[in-house]
Amino acid sequence: MTELRLNNVSLSYSRRDGFGPVRSTEVLRRVSLSLAPGEFVAVIGRSGSGKTSLLNLAAGFVAPSEGRVTRAGEAITGPGADRAVVFQDDALYPWLSARDNVAFPLRLAGVGRIERRERAGELLGQVGLANEADRQIWELSGGQRQRVGIARALAARPDFLLMDEPLGALDAMTRERMQELLLGVWQVSGAGVLLITHSVEEALFLGTRVVVLAPHPGRIVLDRRFGFSQRFADGEAARVLKAAPDFIAAREELITAIYADETVAA
Ligand SMILES: Nc1ncnc2c1ncn2[C@@H]1O[C@H](COP(=O)(O)OP(=O)(O)OP(=O)(O)O)[C@@H](O)[C@H]1O
Ligand SMILES: [Mg+2]
Repeated sequence: MTELRLNNVSLSYSRRDGFGPVRSTEVLRRVSLSLAPGEFVAVIGRSGSGKTSLLNLAAGFVAPSEGRVTRAGEAITGPGADRAVVFQDDALYPWLSARDNVAFPLRLAGVGRIERRERAGELLGQVGLANEADRQIWELSGGQRQRVGIARALAARPDFLLMDEPLGALDAMTRERMQELLLGVWQVSGAGVLLITHSVEEALFLGTRVVVLAPHPGRIVLDRRFGFSQRFADGEAARVLKAAPDFIAAREELITAIYADETVAA
């Protein structure tokens, strides 16, 4: 069992205002979530519901206050090459070409120059950048940079790909194309994907499972399997799929879950 698992995890942050008392804020409460290789879990929720905190726990950037985060049953004690992370901002190395950015983790892993150039070229091909491999980062568009970031994350063949709103900064049309590309890359890689998104449509289109977090404190209020990404893989057109009655019904269900307990401040 190689699953990445959050088992009854709570997370609190402590903070002190000036000389005042230390305040502890509970950001996540008793969250249980598993991610298997080959699965695509999309996490959605209002701002401040703890999505990034959840990803930070899975990545091993922060430790839970209670509960356990495990990989194949073993406690996770820090970041690891088995779990690659893609952030909203591409965070590429501006002094390197696209190819050298993708090859960088392989260099760290001690892979020889010829092999890493080949593997980087192959990955850039998978994200549709075969012709841009030798461009500098500043010669690429935002969408192209984000694709370099995804290729780089996949370079070391991680078992899990953890992405925090990777498409959030892109325009609507580029974003739709990137969603389709992400599905293709996921299928080829066989990795387990945890994707955080603000878009209900994106969560439904990409996720084999969608998890909704509610805030204060962050907790899971819905965890459901959907088959839309499989239907896309089976040949149904994205636009047709997103306009299908069952897609629209699912979208309404998610929106209801996301805003269920929202109270309007007086
Ligand atoms: N390092 C930290 N110290 C203290 N509080 C934090 C820290 N990081 C996050 N928080 C708080 O935890 C809560 C959840 O934050 P988090 O970033 O996980 O939310 P999010 O769902 O990713 O929000 P967004 O959609 O805006 O990105 C917020 O109230 C935030 O202020
Ligand atoms: Mg966030």
